[in-house]
Amino acid sequence: MWFDIWREPTFTLGKLNSFELDIRTGLIFIFSVLILIYFERYHDKKAPPSCGGWIPWLGCAVQFGKQPLGFIKRKSQEFGSIFTLYVAGERLTFLTDPKDFHYFFDNSDVDFQQAVQVPVQNLASISRTQFYKYHTKLHDMVKGRLGPVRVGPLGSTLSGQLNQQFDKHIDLTEPQDLMMITRRSMYASVLNTLFGEGNPLVHEKADYEEFLKRFITFDNDFELGVKLPSIFLPKWTAAKNYFLKRMALTFQQMRGQNTQSDKLNMVDALWDKLDGDEVTHKFGMLVMFASIANGVPAAYWMLTYILTNEIVREKVLKEINDVFKDWQGNGDCTIDEEDLKKLTYLKCCVYETIRLRSEGIIGRKVVKDTQIKGYNVAAGTMLMISPYWSHRDERYFTEPEMFKPERWENSNTDIPGFVAFGGGRYQCPGRWFGMMSMQTFVAMFFLKYTCTVHSPIPAPSLIHLIGVQHPTSEFLISCSKKA
Ligand code: HEM
Repeated sequence: MWFDIWREPTFTLGKLNSFELDIRTGLIFIFSVLILIYFERYHDKKAPPSCGGWIPWLGCAVQFGKQPLGFIKRKSQEFGSIFTLYVAGERLTFLTDPKDFHYFFDNSDVDFQQAVQVPVQNLASISRTQFYKYHTKLHDMVKGRLGPVRVGPLGSTLSGQLNQQFDKHIDLTEPQDLMMITRRSMYASVLNTLFGEGNPLVHEKADYEEFLKRFITFDNDFELGVKLPSIFLPKWTAAKNYFLKRMALTFQQMRGQNTQSDKLNMVDALWDKLDGDEVTHKFGMLVMFASIANGVPAAYWMLTYILTNEIVREKVLKEINDVFKDWQGNGDCTIDEEDLKKLTYLKCCVYETIRLRSEGIIGRKVVKDTQIKGYNVAAGTMLMISPYWSHRDERYFTEPEMFKPERWENSNTDIPGFVAFGGGRYQCPGRWFGMMSMQTFVAMFFLKYTCTVHSPIPAPSLIHLIGVQHPTSEFLISCSKKA
């Protein structure tokens, strides 16, 4: 057999027949070409400094995979403000100095859509053609519907939802993990606000339990799920198919519902924008995922930071008590736009939380050979920045690891390297809704409950690079209802 050539103890050409000789010559040729390509790559004198490990294709995937954020930091200390990592067949060129971020956000040689098309295909079974046909329409619709003017009235709906969901999910008899409380109360509140109350994703108790279980699986394995063939992650794929089915049902049941002017029906908005195409519910699933995947852990961290910092907690409570002097405390109470505007210190807590718990990396695809900071960067490269690290740049944030909401008082948020929501044409279109929901979640919590903390603040998981970090341990609190 041809593969037996590797077992032959001595390579005497005389013993080989011509077929074996051809195979061996072919293999040696292919191997030499691979080595040449490999060395050629690293010896492009004008390419950024790089880390490729010893094994072609795999590159530095093993070291990178163990602790990706720490690895990026070490390489930036070693190489400076631009460098390339070769990771499992991908070329990732990192820019680490915020002063260079214009190469990332305002550069016609790099592209957002080409960077996300395949992950979106894997996430929601949206084909390449469907993606390019509808993506920009979807982005602009979400940005319009959740923009600064429209998001104010949505806050009242969301706060009313939270008021009810807290009553359902906060157990007054024993300590609970805050992440679980946040997930249970926020998922339902956000989805009822965006997709209409009564939507089949979260309406019945049994459906909601199923939703929670599937979403946690989907969210935890998201990074692998959007990269690997579905066969490797059967539970993730089952969760995805479950959401696609539930979204199809949501579109059947919720069209034309909740049409009052102060409410939003994302189902109708999507249906109109995408001309009722058969893929509309798949884009609906994208919006569903985007609306809770980052906002919910961000709200969790905000409350966790406040609860574990005596001085911040006192200031937050004082501000809430001052603004809501006439709060009735009954189950129908809501927080409106004007109230939120007065909670200025709480808004600073929002900024400080998204500074510290922002995405590990965001990327763009280089679509044309280009030059960045005098280096050649080839088409096909993924250009990356790390909001997590740029938010810890001491030139812009003193004592960067400290939770100091005061740094945002009287400060404009237009700080170089502060890119919690990305930037450019496809900057997060849900950013106003995300910030409003964090502020509303914490305000409503403190209006309704006092609480005792039983755990130290959890460490964030630094394994996942995409999305707001998740906690690595439980954060137990016990709550009592305010009279
Ligand atoms: C605090 C909460 C949130 C954070 C930290 C966050 C962060 C981000 C970031 C960093 C991006 C990538 C942008 C880029 O590459 O330039 C993004 C994209 C996106 N976000 Fe958010 N986001 C949040 C909440 C939301 C919410 C509530 C929605 C509501 C629907 C949303 C919808 C989206 C969508 C649809 C995209 C993809 C944009 C596109 O495909 O055109 N996000 N988000």
